[in-house]
Amino acid sequence: MCWYGREKCKNEDKFIHIERLYKDTGFAATALLCIFVKKTRMILLDGRATAAQIQEELKAAVQLRKDAGQKIPHLAAILVGNDGGSVSYVTSKVKACEAIGFESTLIRYDETVPEDILLEKVESLNQDRSIDGFIVQLPLPKHIDELKITQAIDPKKDVDGFHPRNIGNMILNLPGFLPATPAGILELMRRNEIPTEGKNCLIIGRSNIVGTPLSIMLGRNSNPGNCTVTLAHSKTRNLKTICKEADIIIAAIGKPNFVTADMVKDGVVIIDVGTTRVEDSSRERGWRLVGDVHFDEVAPKASFITPVPGGVGPMTIASLMMNTLKAMELNGK
Ligand code: GUN
Repeated sequence: MCWYGREKCKNEDKFIHIERLYKDTGFAATALLCIFVKKTRMILLDGRATAAQIQEELKAAVQLRKDAGQKIPHLAAILVGNDGGSVSYVTSKVKACEAIGFESTLIRYDETVPEDILLEKVESLNQDRSIDGFIVQLPLPKHIDELKITQAIDPKKDVDGFHPRNIGNMILNLPGFLPATPAGILELMRRNEIPTEGKNCLIIGRSNIVGTPLSIMLGRNSNPGNCTVTLAHSKTRNLKTICKEADIIIAAIGKPNFVTADMVKDGVVIIDVGTTRVEDSSRERGWRLVGDVHFDEVAPKASFITPVPGGVGPMTIASLMMNTLKAMELNGK
C-alpha cells in the first residue's frame, strides 16, 4: 500500500491510479508517484458545496417540522444603510432562508437612524414570539454604539453569537450560540476531515467576530481543535517567520492578497476570511471580491485552501441557519 495512505490522499482519481500502478509495477514506481501526488495534492475547500449539503439537511428538518404541524424557524435581520458588502450579505441570508424554507423578515433603516430607534426595534424583536432569532448586520454607522446594540439582543435569540453571555459561554464551552463565521470555518474543517490536533494554527486578525473567538475554539480540547494557536495582529513582529511555521493559516484582516507564497510552508492549510471589493473594469459590476491570501501564488503550496468567493462566506450563512433552527428548538417551539 502507498505510504502516503488513502485517507490523506484525498484525490480519488489519483489514488486509483496509484493502486493500479502498484499492481503493475511494484513499489518503486508507486513511491515515486506518491511523491508527485504529495507535491500536487492541493484540495479546494469548497464552501459552496459544503453549505449546500447543510442546506439540504436543514430543508429536511424543516419538512419534518412542517409534516408534524410544528412551527417553521423565523429569522429577522436588521440592516442599517446601504453599504454594498452588508447589503449583499444580508440579501444572501434572506435568500438562504427562502431556499431552506425558513421564514425571514428584513428590516431596513436609513444610515441616519438614531440609536434609540434601533434599540426599540431590538427590544420589539426580543418580545416578538414569532421571531426565533435575529441579527443586526455590522458594521453600524459611527453614531451608533455597536456594543450597546449587541448587548440589547436577548441572548436566546442572538443567533450571531455576539452577545457577551454567548461569548462567555463559548469561552467556557457551555451551551449557547457560536459566532457564525468561526462556527462555519470549524464546520468546513470537520466535514472535510482536516486534521487539526497538535497543529500550529496561525490566525491573522483579532476581531471580536472572527479572530478572537476562533483562537479559543481551535485551541480547546475538541475536534476540530487541539491546535497550538497564535493570534497575530497589527503589532505582531516577524509575521513572516511565524507564518512559515504554521500548519494552518486563517487570514482575517481584510487586506487583499496579504499572505503571499514566500510566507507559507509546503502543505499549509489556508482558510481565507477576507472579502474586499477591488475595482475591476473587466466585470460588468466594476469590482470583484479579493481574499486576504494571494490565491494563485499560495494554492500550489497548500494542501487545502478556500477560494474567495465560495469558501468561508457560504459557510457563515449556513451556520447562521443552523443557529436559527437551534434557537427555535432551544426556546421550546
Ligand atoms: N458583519 C460581518 N460579518 C457579520 C456577521 O457574521 N454577522 C453580522 N451581524 N454582521 C457581520
